[in-house]
Amino acid sequence: MGKKDIDWGNLGFGYIKTDYRFVSNYKDGRWDEGVITGDSDIVLNECACVLQYAQTVFEGLKAYTTEDGRTVTFRPDLNGERLEHSAERLKMPVYPKESFVEAVKKTVRANEDFVPPYGSGATLYIRPYMFGSDPIIGVKPANEYQFRIFTTPVGPYFKGGAKPITVRISDFDRAAPHGTGHIKAGLNYAMSLYAIVDAHEKGFDENMYLDAASRTKLEETGGANIIFITRDNKLVTPKSDSILPSITRRSLVYVAKEYLGMEVEEREVYLSELSDFAECGLCGTAAVVSPVGKIVDHGREICLPAGMESMGPVTKKLYDTLTGIQMGRIEAPKGWIVEI
Ligand code: PLP
Ligand code: COI
Repeated sequence: MGKKDIDWGNLGFGYIKTDYRFVSNYKDGRWDEGVITGDSDIVLNECACVLQYAQTVFEGLKAYTTEDGRTVTFRPDLNGERLEHSAERLKMPVYPKESFVEAVKKTVRANEDFVPPYGSGATLYIRPYMFGSDPIIGVKPANEYQFRIFTTPVGPYFKGGAKPITVRISDFDRAAPHGTGHIKAGLNYAMSLYAIVDAHEKGFDENMYLDAASRTKLEETGGANIIFITRDNKLVTPKSDSILPSITRRSLVYVAKEYLGMEVEEREVYLSELSDFAECGLCGTAAVVSPVGKIVDHGREICLPAGMESMGPVTKKLYDTLTGIQMGRIEAPKGWIVEI
């Protein structure tokens, strides 16, 4: 079978139903083997724990077609590991990371015709997730769970692709100290919906959140970690216990040090430092590396010297190297690229 008839070059970041998904159920203390199914619907009891108490965690990764025509994923073991941590924090049974990687491969293989061709600018987004499925009314964890993976072909997360975006410093907090900011739980995104709609209504592309305790330090955005480039070409990225440990950010830190010979600082980053930076970018699976041209803090505009027209030169080097590794143009560190 050939590739689907999709206008790959004009995809946004949206849901397109693909042919197959993976489903595994947890009951009586164990996960079943799981199956690939064509059925995209889920039937749940009205009192399912996920519906009442939001007991759900998820992941996001992508499949790529490389320059030489292979289908690959990027560091899926790290997504499997992070899902384990997320599940533990919400008192859900762990779906083992080895089974996770196998299930990702099976799901992508089944949807091979939806993996966008090399050079199209699109990728196949993979969404693993799990949720408490049996009826729970007193506040406690579910007894039964479902783990699923679906896929959807996607283009850039932010409209305009590599065009710099404008973000605002949010008055809403994303995560509390000792809370759930470091895991990938649906609840972290539910609470950000009000803030993102409000930001869009006011003409901003995203919210940059501050640490909830002191509101002086930068944390991350609703769906990505943050990187800064200093005027002397160092990469600076916020370190905090309440941000998601982004796999893209961890990979960029390695790329900056080992491929580009840059100095890297992973440390607390203060709001008051913003005007010192030369470039800023948002990094994540969906965002890849999206340049930020302007940050607005209650009317104070911080315009990054890289401007609003194109990605800054150092951000561009990081972007080119990371996507070069993902698409097989640049040799990857051992274990980063997993063939389907
Ligand atoms: N931060 C948040 C809140 C996210 O939702 C994501 C997306 O996964 C990221 C950061 C980036 O993480 P990763 O690079 O692992 O996709
Ligand atoms: C991802 O990058 O995979 C995410 O989950 C972020 C989300 C905002 C789409």
